[in-house]
Amino acid sequence: MKTVNQAFQDEVRRRRTFAIISHPDAGKTTLTEKLLLYGGAIRLAGSVKSRRAQRHAVSDWMEIEKQRGISVTSSVLQFEYMGHMVNLLDTPGHQDFSEDTYRTLMAADNAVMVIDCAKGVEAQTKKLFQVCRLRGIPIFTFINKMDRAGKDPFELLEEIEQVLGIESYPMNWPVGTDGQFKGVYNRVKAQMEIFEGGHHGQSQVSAITGDIDSPVFHDLLGETLHKQLMGEIELLDEAGNQFDLKRVLKGELTPVFFGSAMTNFGVQTFLESFLELTLPPAPRFSQGEEVDPERPDFSAFIFKIQANMNPAHRDRIAFLRICSGRFSKGMTATLSRNNKKIKLAQPQQFFAQDRSSVEEAYPGDIIGIHDPGIFRIGDTLFENDVLIQYDDIPVFAPEHFAKIHAKDSMKRKQFIKGIQQLSEEGAIQVFRPINSGIEEIIVGVVGILQFEVLEYRLLNEYNVEIRMQQLPYRQVRWIESEGFDSDAFNLTMDAIIALDQDDHPVLMYQNEWSEERIVERNKGVVLQPIARRT
Ligand code: G4P
Repeated sequence: MKTVNQAFQDEVRRRRTFAIISHPDAGKTTLTEKLLLYGGAIRLAGSVKSRRAQRHAVSDWMEIEKQRGISVTSSVLQFEYMGHMVNLLDTPGHQDFSEDTYRTLMAADNAVMVIDCAKGVEAQTKKLFQVCRLRGIPIFTFINKMDRAGKDPFELLEEIEQVLGIESYPMNWPVGTDGQFKGVYNRVKAQMEIFEGGHHGQSQVSAITGDIDSPVFHDLLGETLHKQLMGEIELLDEAGNQFDLKRVLKGELTPVFFGSAMTNFGVQTFLESFLELTLPPAPRFSQGEEVDPERPDFSAFIFKIQANMNPAHRDRIAFLRICSGRFSKGMTATLSRNNKKIKLAQPQQFFAQDRSSVEEAYPGDIIGIHDPGIFRIGDTLFENDVLIQYDDIPVFAPEHFAKIHAKDSMKRKQFIKGIQQLSEEGAIQVFRPINSGIEEIIVGVVGILQFEVLEYRLLNEYNVEIRMQQLPYRQVRWIESEGFDSDAFNLTMDAIIALDQDDHPVLMYQNEWSEERIVERNKGVVLQPIARRT
């Protein structure tokens, strides 16, 4: 019989929590769907509708989001595979929502980077890769669309190393390229895997496996392809990088898998190797001290808040990443920001549109709890009396600004409520200009599409039509200055001072030239590019 403690440890150790990053269109949605297919979470691929977010008007796309449940906003999908409990964090693909993706990456322990074999490393992949790099988490690479014409596999490895600065180790090698993709050579098992079936990607493929020298593969591939493959594998073994698990886990070496998410080729091998190589949740840091996930007292941090996720449930959900201890329904925890004890109500897990109630959850898991308006992104919740305060989640500096107000002044109350809730979600940042004499609201966003989402959501969720006037500012900096006095501050013509949602003074201006001038004119002032939530 297992003791309670052993059972708890087993639960922690079987958790694998990861996020998929990619440039739009590389195949993240398709791969997610196929992992769910293999994980038994869906029966037929195609049940999760394809999201063409970047091609749709925002309104369509919000509709799609509602129907589909996993897309614009990140959510989490949980399934069991080979005894592991897998938590897959879904992230929005569009760069305008990269802040949301960034926050989600804070909750992940591993990342999978999907690359289109024809396009190689693209802009958004680079950006998100850097975020993973900073966190030092293991990064696995899935080179997708191998069923189509693409770059030479050696060239792709070279590109990953050159552009991203990470060494690569191909775990498998494609058999046939440019429309002739038949399978992979699994370097770890030293065996061929030639795929068949799969009903155009709708169901799992089967594979003929065996020794590369077996006459079966000579016959299947033909003399030329077989010879070429043998040559390439020899080259990899002799001249390629060595596999080193420690370096993989430190994020210094990326295991690379070739495959095709659409036809399911290579998906299963990828999932199995990935689960074998990744580690359970690692310790997280609270004020410089390690918090072991296996310690018994519960702790978690909030990385996402989402209001009105579903029109049928007009409520607000805070997403928690559990870092230690066991979560049980109805438990009470302390909110580190104000030391208040809070009952964690209505815990839920999400799967696409469906929600289910959670009785218990473990480190590595993500759950949603009801938020009556008290939580903030970056908050820590902990169970015992000793304070745990996980590292802050930095807020990106917005790059686009607009003045907004409600078209109908009678709707000012709903307008303020909507703005406040959306800013607490981190979907927008709100500033109030000082010395302007009028009660104005300036909204700042990182990606321009967020303005459209703001307009759409205010109308649909709060029934408020707005007027928006875009402003010429391109930068915002948080002012650090002893005894700051806005009246005494010496500005340039194109700059203004405003207060952020925590009443911290910020400076908005149009270009770097102004920044230099302002620093020159105001001795002792320091301008910070990132706001830390307090
Ligand atoms: P994303 O989430 O990264 O943005 O990409 P998504 O999965 O939506 O895939 C983008 C397009 O690439 C889709 O085609 C998808 O079917 C296709 N695709 C994904 N994986 C593969 C693959 O392994 N091989 C090939 N040949 N294509 C792949 P679409 O025509 O734009 O949309 P759809 O109508 O097929 O959904």
